Amino acid sequence: MAMKWSFSSLAISGDSFAPLSDLRIHTSHSLFADKAWSLEKRRLLPVIKCLTESLEKTTHTTNVQRNANLAKLQGGYLFPEIARRRNAHIQKYPDAKIISLGIGDTTEPIPAVITSAMEARARGLSTLEGYSGYGAEQGEKALRVALAETFYEGLDIEDSEIFVSDGAKCDISRLQLVFGPDVSIAVQDPSYPAYVDSSVIMGQTGNFKKDAQQYSKIMYMRCTPENNFFPDFSSLPRTDIIFFCSPNNPTGYAATREQLEELVAFAKKKGSIIVYDSAYAIYMSENNPRSIYEISGAREVAIETGSFSKYAGFTGVRLGWTVVPEELCFSDGFPVKNDFNRVMCTCFNGASNISQSGGLACLSPDGLKAMNQMVSFYKENTEILIDTFTSLGFKTFGGKNAPYVWVQFPGRDSWDVFGEILQKADIVTTPGSGFGPGGEGFIRASAFGHRENILEATNRLRKLYK
Ligand SMILES: Cc1ncc(COP(=O)(O)O)c(C=O)c1O
Repeated sequence: MAMKWSFSSLAISGDSFAPLSDLRIHTSHSLFADKAWSLEKRRLLPVIKCLTESLEKTTHTTNVQRNANLAKLQGGYLFPEIARRRNAHIQKYPDAKIISLGIGDTTEPIPAVITSAMEARARGLSTLEGYSGYGAEQGEKALRVALAETFYEGLDIEDSEIFVSDGAKCDISRLQLVFGPDVSIAVQDPSYPAYVDSSVIMGQTGNFKKDAQQYSKIMYMRCTPENNFFPDFSSLPRTDIIFFCSPNNPTGYAATREQLEELVAFAKKKGSIIVYDSAYAIYMSENNPRSIYEISGAREVAIETGSFSKYAGFTGVRLGWTVVPEELCFSDGFPVKNDFNRVMCTCFNGASNISQSGGLACLSPDGLKAMNQMVSFYKENTEILIDTFTSLGFKTFGGKNAPYVWVQFPGRDSWDVFGEILQKADIVTTPGSGFGPGGEGFIRASAFGHRENILEATNRLRKLYK
């Protein structure tokens, strides 16, 4: 069968690309065997995915019907679409030195105190004493205890309520398996796309309505500067599930204690379950809650998911967790935790043992220090971006409690702004409307990047918008 090669966005870790003209089509093995390919070039190379798709048109089709829910999804996931436009730009301008303020992927090396623990675990796997096979689907006890003690100290979260996983995004999808197709959901608008897309795939929604840019049967809770990025719950109808992310991706807004009290009270009154995404909690500078369990009553209504991705550069290592308290029950009194456990045991075989050793090292005193230094570095990048955009006269939001700056371009189409910045400054951003219709008129600038790239990006932005 003929092979078709495609360049995948999701595996790109560098901030810029080798020009496409430099990319000869080899197998990745033979390419890397070529000594002319420096380490630097390899780092910039997008991972080449092999799609076993015939180049010749074939008339044969199977008798298997396509999943109608997947067919409802619009234009692919946001980041592959951005990568497609970026690749088209590179093809047109092969010498362009692209800087990415786009996808929220970390760029700085993982501190050695963490990688050395992973290295030791990996080496141990080559010994009789150190070898281990499948671990507990729920995660290693030591890591669950360390998570409970580090992030939930004084909040009554037991290690047995924490499920270690391969990341928050994966847990969001597995939670959808727990909920099934018949629940109704609410999402912040704008929000991280995984909530909506996993809901569509699960069959919880109707079709996409082009005029409203929304799926029917999803409740979009508008979060804009006009309502201080927090929905007015008193005017919202009930849904079964409320996805809520704070600090929020993309707006960078972190809900206050009073607002989260309102959210928990609303969920309790309506009998809803909150899925609280705290993937950026470590970026909190202001004195807002870092966990939903800081709010009294949350144990009865909320699940919380967290991740090492943006804490320690684990976007590639893969490690996260989800907390499901004992008290959280379905309408028939059955514990949600038991069903989540069942799904984890069926659909997941436990996080990598090497990753879990890395996670444990993150939570050691030295690991915590190193993680916080890394977070501070990205927060300095955020300040540089905020200063630049505000000095150019743009209104910015977020940034204080999250590695994202939400920049307003009033009255403009966000894909047009994305195109303008890409065409004229060779900078990739993320168009706000990719996060929902409430993101129209904004772009998201991510603070993940090497300092020299952030500074170069700000120079180019100053030239573009002076
Ligand atoms: C809000 C939010 N939740 C979850 C994730 C995914 O985290 P993970 O890498 O642990 O899957 C991201 C990643 O960008 C995110 O922004």
